[in-house]
Order: sequence, then structure tokens, then C-alpha cells
Amino acid sequence: MLNDSFGRIHSYLRLAVTDRCNLRCRYCMPDTGVDFKPHHGILTFEEIHRLVSIFSMLGIRKIRLTGGEPTVRKNVSRLVSLISALPGIEEVTMTSNGILLAEAICDLHRAGLRRVNISLDTLRPNRFRAITRRDGIDKVLASIDKALSLNMRPVKLNVVVMRGVNDDELRDFADFAIRKGVTVRFIEFMPFAGNRWQSEYFISSDEIRKRLARAFVLRPLDEENSSSAREWEITGEGTRIGFISPVSDHFCASCNRLRLTVDGALRTCLLNNAEISLRDLLRRGASDEELALSIQASLNAKPASHPGIDGLLKQENRTMIAIGG
Ligand code: 5AD
Ligand code: SF4
Repeated sequence: MLNDSFGRIHSYLRLAVTDRCNLRCRYCMPDTGVDFKPHHGILTFEEIHRLVSIFSMLGIRKIRLTGGEPTVRKNVSRLVSLISALPGIEEVTMTSNGILLAEAICDLHRAGLRRVNISLDTLRPNRFRAITRRDGIDKVLASIDKALSLNMRPVKLNVVVMRGVNDDELRDFADFAIRKGVTVRFIEFMPFAGNRWQSEYFISSDEIRKRLARAFVLRPLDEENSSSAREWEITGEGTRIGFISPVSDHFCASCNRLRLTVDGALRTCLLNNAEISLRDLLRRGASDEELALSIQASLNAKPASHPGIDGLLKQENRTMIAIGG
């Protein structure tokens, strides 16, 4: 089992399949100068398959495909079939911006994809264009409906909340959650290289929840172990609202996740720079045992928690797309 030095058992791998994206969200991508990894630097499906088979032997049970935007990687459903066929892998899911998902989701579902989390920061078309620098909110909404019609429940929406940008839509999102039967999760805005994080934009989960509590009766649900979201139920509706608080409240103590970047670097934490290149080891001809030992060695060095906001603002980190969301 993938145990770290604080006794945390790791069963969840977030796998970035591309660093490309068909949106340009202001909080994620810098305005200009986005450096994408060259093709040869990116893991092939065969390389990913081999690494995931090693991870599954070590106890990884759940895989989430991330990006960039995972659906822009060619034939990603083939990767889903390869991975979901591995013994030990119980669930393959994806986080998507929903632009291409409506077209791709039937194939993905057939290939074994169980669930999707869809990112959507506004329900207003003009604002969608302002935040993402692209059109397409209708496509995202269609993807949500398509996922529901395939019964890939719960469908979860990820909403990054920014003061003065979309914090006037909290109630609209909660109403949307009730109407559609989806779970909405409000995410605190995190600082990353080039995303121009400023404290004025930041709103804590606590404040978001207090504001929602003016309109809805919220009941806390039992903490699902090792989930990054604290979930509350809107009383009487059975609808769940989640809060993801990487800045105000570390959930590090129950962290069970590892990340593999698009260029094959293993990271034990989104907000901590330490990484090792499994790709380089693999391409140098390392055996499964050597790769497994390296994975365990980086886990042994996993810190108890990530730096606080001051440390985060000071540290050089990859951009979110270069790590994988
Ligand atoms: N802060 C918080 N969430 C972010 N995401 C991307 N960048 C940031 C950021 N700076 C979100 C995306 C997606 C999820 C994987 O992470 O919107 O929903
Ligand atoms: Fe693309 Fe997601 Fe970044 Fe938006 S947040 S630009 S959808 S990777």
C-alpha cells in the first residue's frame, strides 16, 4: 500500500492527459506566453498504461483524468478503456470544462468512464466569455444534461468563486443545483504562476457558506473521509453543496491523492513543488520494481501539509495546466 510517513494511505491518482485547453480562463492561463509541452515530452497511452498498472499494484483504486482539458487529447476514450481494464482500478472519472464533452461522453461512458466533474464559473453567457475568453456556455450546459441523461451521477460542477467576478451568482448556482439535480462545489481561488492572484478576489468558503445560509437552510453532511470537499445539504431539497478550501482550511491531513503531470512527473501535492520524473526513469528502461521504489520514495518525502498563502505566493510553481487540475 502507498503509505506516507504520516500514515496517509494513497488510493487516488489524478492523471493529466494533456496540457492543452480549448478555453483560456483568466484565473488559470496567463494572457500570453503559454508554453505547451512538446509532443515527445508527453507520455504516450502505452506509457500511461504501464505506469497506471504499477500504481494499481501499489494500491491506487481511483483515477481521475485531468488536463488542461482532457477531451482535447486525441482518442482519450481509448485511454479510458485501457485504464479501466486494469485489475485493481475501480473507478475512472474525469474533470472537464464541458466544451467537447457532450460530443465525446457516450464514447467515454462506453469505454468505462463512471463520472464527470464539470467546471463552470458562471451561468451568464457574457460573463462566461469574459472569464474564459471564449464562447461556449451552451455546450457546457448541454454536457451537463448529457451526463445526467447517461445517469453518470452525481454530476458535480466546480465553481471557482472570485469576489467582484462571479460572487453575485451563489444563489443562482444553488438554484441551478436544485433544478438540475447536480452537486455544486464552490472552490477557493488559489494562486498559481501567472494567474495574477490577488487577495481582493479571494473569498473564503466560510463567507460563501454564510452568504448562502441567508437564502437556504444548510445541514452539514458527515465528512466523507479524504474528500477535498466539505458537503452540506440544502434542507428539504436533498441537493448537495460542496466547499473546497485549499487556502483557508487545508484538507492535507486526510489527503489520499497523487498526481501525474502530462510529462510524467509524479507530484505528491498540487501546491508543493517536489516532483520526480517517472517518464525519464521509464524511458531509461527502469523495471516495474524500480519505478515502484521511486514512487514510494517520493511518497516518503510528502510533506504533512502545503505552505500557507504567504508561502504559496512566494514559491515558484508550475501553472495549474502544467500540473493538471
Ligand atoms: N484556483 C482554484 N481552482 C482552480 N481551477 C483552476 N485554476 C484554479 C485556481 N487558480 C479549477 C478549475 C477546475 C479544477 C480542476 O480546478 O476550474 O474546476
Ligand atoms: Fe482550461 Fe480549465 Fe484552465 Fe479554464 S481552468 S483554461 S478550462 S484548464
